[in-house]
Amino acid sequence: MLSAYGKNRGGLKPIVKDEGNTITTEKLSPEIEFSHVNFKYDEVGADILKDVSFKVNAGEVVALVGESSAGKTICISLLNRLWDVDEGSIRIGGIDVKDMKLHNLHDLTSVVLQEVYLFNATIMDNIRLSKPDAMLMEVVEVAKMARIHDFIESLPQGYDTVTGERGVQMSGGQRQRIAIARALLKDSPILILDEAVSNLDTKTDMEIQDTIRHLAHKKTILMVAHRLSTIMEADRLIVIRNGKVVQTGSHTQLLTKDGYYMELIAAQLS
Ligand SMILES: Nc1ncnc2c1ncn2[C@@H]1O[C@H](COP(=O)(O)OP(=O)(O)OP(=O)(O)O)[C@@H](O)[C@H]1O
Ligand SMILES: [Mg+2]
Repeated sequence: MLSAYGKNRGGLKPIVKDEGNTITTEKLSPEIEFSHVNFKYDEVGADILKDVSFKVNAGEVVALVGESSAGKTICISLLNRLWDVDEGSIRIGGIDVKDMKLHNLHDLTSVVLQEVYLFNATIMDNIRLSKPDAMLMEVVEVAKMARIHDFIESLPQGYDTVTGERGVQMSGGQRQRIAIARALLKDSPILILDEAVSNLDTKTDMEIQDTIRHLAHKKTILMVAHRLSTIMEADRLIVIRNGKVVQTGSHTQLLTKDGYYMELIAAQLS
């Protein structure tokens, strides 16, 4: 069975229907609200998200944190309507994502996935994927914003370097920054970033931090953050455990409370 995005991995979930209204996305405030969201992959399966509610204000940087399999990526998948929620709602600017055309939803959000795929093409074309007619200047601008321009310029072929399977090998952090540049070129008001789980070296770590800091408050950013360094860049954290929101607050606020977040951080530092 196919979802709007390709193969439906869950198998039993219906294809999302593009039955919403056409909306004027420019007029919408880019705020996101999850309200009592419940989700399971199939009728007999376990609950994946249980009564999940949280808000991301326009221009805010919010990070979803939690252990592996907690339900962070699925929040992003549901926001982008890879599947639909079973109960509750997800709204952008007050409008349920089911009530807007899928193309409107896709104009509002740019997504950088956990595992970034680069095509066997030039860096230029890999970035331009989201806007094939973009001018060189625009590509350079977003590459600078994503903090990847200097690296690209340091390559002998620069933006014409071929990446991907048969091209130059890039680290996870570099690939993710190429994907951030690609997402920025689209220039949607909401940026969604599912941070790579793999450990990155300190330099890459600092560069990604710098990227997020640079973008903060220019866009609404919802990110899944695994590393303490990126967690600390967020205005607010939504702590997810076994499909439920268990704590919210800034890193500093949550550090003053005994609770699951303290356990998570202690585990990272040990
Ligand atoms: N296609 C699928 N079909 C059935 N169950 C799935 C599917 N994809 C994910 N799950 C399950 O849903 C739960 C939430 O997964 P999710 O990908 O949201 O975790 P996560 O918090 O992003 O973890 P990680 O930090 O490892 O990326 C997990 O128990 C996972 O096994
Ligand atoms: Mg994930």
